[in-house]
Amino acid sequence: MESDSNFTSVLPGSRYAGVYVPSQVDYVVEAVANSGPWTILFTLLAILVAYDQVMYIVRKGSIICCDRLDSRYVTQDIQFPGFVKPCVVDVAHKLLGADNWVFLDGRPHVDFRKGLNGLFTRKALESYLPGQEEVYQAYFKKFVQITKENGGQPVPFMPEFRELMCAVSCRTFVGHYISDEAVKKIADDYYLITAALELVNFPIIIPYTKTWYGKKAADMVLKEFSICAAKSKVRMAAGGDVTCIMDAWIKSMLESKRWREAQEQGLPVEGMEKPSPLLRWFNDYEISQTVFTFLFASQDATSSAATWLFQIMAQRPDVLDRVREENLRVREGNIHTEIDMDQLESLKYTRAVVRELLRYRPPVLMVPYVAKKAFPITDTYTVPKGAMIIPSTYLSLRDPEVYEDPDVFNPDRYYSGDAELKGAKNYLVFGTGPHYCIGQTYAQLNLALFVGKASILLDWKHYPTPKSEEIKVFATIFPQVG
Ligand code: HEM
Repeated sequence: MESDSNFTSVLPGSRYAGVYVPSQVDYVVEAVANSGPWTILFTLLAILVAYDQVMYIVRKGSIICCDRLDSRYVTQDIQFPGFVKPCVVDVAHKLLGADNWVFLDGRPHVDFRKGLNGLFTRKALESYLPGQEEVYQAYFKKFVQITKENGGQPVPFMPEFRELMCAVSCRTFVGHYISDEAVKKIADDYYLITAALELVNFPIIIPYTKTWYGKKAADMVLKEFSICAAKSKVRMAAGGDVTCIMDAWIKSMLESKRWREAQEQGLPVEGMEKPSPLLRWFNDYEISQTVFTFLFASQDATSSAATWLFQIMAQRPDVLDRVREENLRVREGNIHTEIDMDQLESLKYTRAVVRELLRYRPPVLMVPYVAKKAFPITDTYTVPKGAMIIPSTYLSLRDPEVYEDPDVFNPDRYYSGDAELKGAKNYLVFGTGPHYCIGQTYAQLNLALFVGKASILLDWKHYPTPKSEEIKVFATIFPQVG
């Protein structure tokens, strides 16, 4: 920009002309006036980044990463809900919605969660089983086809496991209200959401950055799930049976609505059972937002577990043989039999394999919390208010005082051993305290169904690469490839 000899500052011509302006401010104003739009834009961005960093340092206080011993203290003490609350990356609020229930704390969180507990009861989980069987059946056929098309050559299967887990989640959460095409799109785009949530990411959503792509993908899922909610409301109001989590939740809302209306109109409620808890009516977006938290919480974790399960089973034919034998037995030798909840629960060894897999390769390595108030972690150390506390699941799950040969994958420790009892305080796989994983029973039973069914329908081999045993962290943990 050419300099104008008459120009000294933008202020002289303004209503502040008579005001004394320090020379430093005058210098800044002049610099701004002489800058092009790009310079201004980049300067603004630099200021925002600097602001974000300063605020991060101001807010973060101490960060306490707990080693094996501390983790035990944290495991026990963190159960007092008054002390801590979960700590998530800032962009999570933007993707899930700042008003999302998972960000609630204290009483409002407890109350909201109570309304969701019914979706994960044994009876409810049983009603989702046929949908899961159907997805596994279809995808295992697809797996065989993929291998055939590759002439039996090794194929990287991690993306297939991610798609399968996304499909089984969508079927469980929103049933057949979603099309196969939409499920495929969600599975394909989901990694954009995971990438947007990496710890180091740009603090504000700028077009064509990871957070921008992540937000677009999240909005797409929210839109799809909102449409499902509208469809489920119609079907449930017409007396349809529950086939997915969304149906179960909407059915409870309808029952609560009927109860309220009967009371308001003074109608007899003798024949009616009072719903507990009484739910309010949620709009389609709110339902979608809540169901999205289930996908959000499960997609990476279950994909990680599924990938390791297949890799480790291939490396341990002794374990796979026992899983296969148990699964054939419960289906009385018929590999196509669909099992019910009693049968699934009776797969004691298969479930021990899942339990041990999650100990050996815990998908979530750390569960960060922030101290709401000063928090005594040992007799000699009190965590200050505002500090971040990061109990390491990995170390507490490899505590040699609790788990003999902790680096060995040994399902027998959960089948016939005492790991469940001895490691009750160590098993941080699903977190602890009021925000512990609401889907933990479902997740483990579903993984047992997955590996059990795979064991009788498929045979697979692992072709190790030099990096197969190295761990890649992408939100959760995966084997490195290449
Ligand atoms: C192997 C699979 C899974 C693992 C390892 C896992 C692990 C976790 C962990 C570590 C937490 C944080 C707990 C805390 O803050 O203390 C969590 C929370 C949560 N999980 Fe899971 N999860 C899995 C599967 C699922 C599934 C399948 C669902 C849904 C159906 C689910 C839904 C949730 C929700 C909604 C929360 C937040 C709960 C709240 O804030 O009250 N998770 N999970």
